[in-house]
Amino acid sequence: MSDTFAPAAVLVTGGAGFIGSNFIHNFMAGNPDCRVVNLDILTYAGNLKNLRAVQDNPHYRFVKGDICDAPLVAQLLAEEKIDAVLHFAAESHVDRSITGPEIFVRTNVLGTQTLLEASRAHAATRPAFRYLQVSTDEVYGSLGSEGFFTEETPLAPNSPYSASKAGADLLVRAYFETFRLPTLNTRCSNNYGPYHFPEKLIPLMIHNIMEKKALPVYGDGLNVRDWLHVKDHSAAIERVLKQGKPGEVYNIGGNNEWRNIDIVHLVCDLMDERLGRAAGESRKLITFVKDRPGHDRRYAIDAAKTKRELGWGPSYTFERGIAETIDWYLANQEWVTEIVSGSYREYYQQQYGA
Ligand code: NAD
Ligand code: DAU
Repeated sequence: MSDTFAPAAVLVTGGAGFIGSNFIHNFMAGNPDCRVVNLDILTYAGNLKNLRAVQDNPHYRFVKGDICDAPLVAQLLAEEKIDAVLHFAAESHVDRSITGPEIFVRTNVLGTQTLLEASRAHAATRPAFRYLQVSTDEVYGSLGSEGFFTEETPLAPNSPYSASKAGADLLVRAYFETFRLPTLNTRCSNNYGPYHFPEKLIPLMIHNIMEKKALPVYGDGLNVRDWLHVKDHSAAIERVLKQGKPGEVYNIGGNNEWRNIDIVHLVCDLMDERLGRAAGESRKLITFVKDRPGHDRRYAIDAAKTKRELGWGPSYTFERGIAETIDWYLANQEWVTEIVSGSYREYYQQQYGA
């Protein structure tokens, strides 16, 4: 399938975070002539070290700023002659949304509306303009042991995080229906890979195993997530940007369901091999802790539409992806150490105790 859209300049929001930075690496490698402007306020989750490989590229510009700053967003869209907005910026961690929901509404809902409004005005001057909202399978709520989320599944978010993402998705829909802003909306399952902030399950386990610290597993450990390598997510977003149909939602998933406890066992075993520890040693660190309130039981994405209409599918097997991810963390311990020695320490103490 050939591309229908070839942007000369894109605005990426949240490009210093986990998925945004991986997207920028991939996108700039495949689109060397496209200008990429990265707007990121650098919250605790934003890290310019994620972008060292592109920081001196003349086609790349970093702007430290807030997606809720309407004049700044309008100025960037105009002065950089932006052809597409790729909106990654968010508060992204479910546990933080339980202890402090307000910032989630500000960033995820108001931030999205600010970008949509600025895009609406800007699109009037650039007819080929596109707006892409990066969203999550969590907007669909929770599944039982059977079935999959399709794009037709009603939204039923359960955490303040997913409610704020669902609110944003509904605004995206409204800007298409009401103003005919050419919007695209992706909804992806759990990502893993390099630059994943160590508050999330997989990097948290890798780090704690390294440090021989307790491995906190919520509830009974039988909640299921569908894991996709971040580079496959990035490729899917690019495909949707270039070939997707405005007004449509596209599900993205790995068809790769794992119970949390099985993922933790796998990471323990792979780490034991690499660290030269006895088989089963790290599993002894597993500690079942109080469940996450409103913990969704199972997510599973049906990505058949994205495959059928855009020809996208994952390229990583989980076996290869998880092994490469663990090796990346082992080779980049300095990146993790800097994070865990900063303000993240206070969050960890509050979430997990001593
Ligand atoms: P992240 O928390 O790693 O990064 C978020 C980035 O947004 C950070 O760089 C942060 O500084 C920036 N940001 C936050 N508030 C901002 C503001 N007001 N203005 C400008 N920048 C701001 O998040 P992530 O895991 O990379 O997720 C990126 C997007 O993908 C989010 O929209 C998330 O909902 C979505 N998503 C994530 C996953 C996943 O598994 N991580 C899966 C599906 C969808
Ligand atoms: O599904 C997509 C979503 O995946 C994204 O929209 C979110 O931004 C992203 O953070 C992620 O949300 P989850 O809540 O699924 O990811 P997390 O890594 O926080 O947790 C994965 C599972 O592991 C979940 O069932 C909770 C459990 N868990 C998590 C942590 C941090 C534990 O058992 N122990 C832990 O310490």
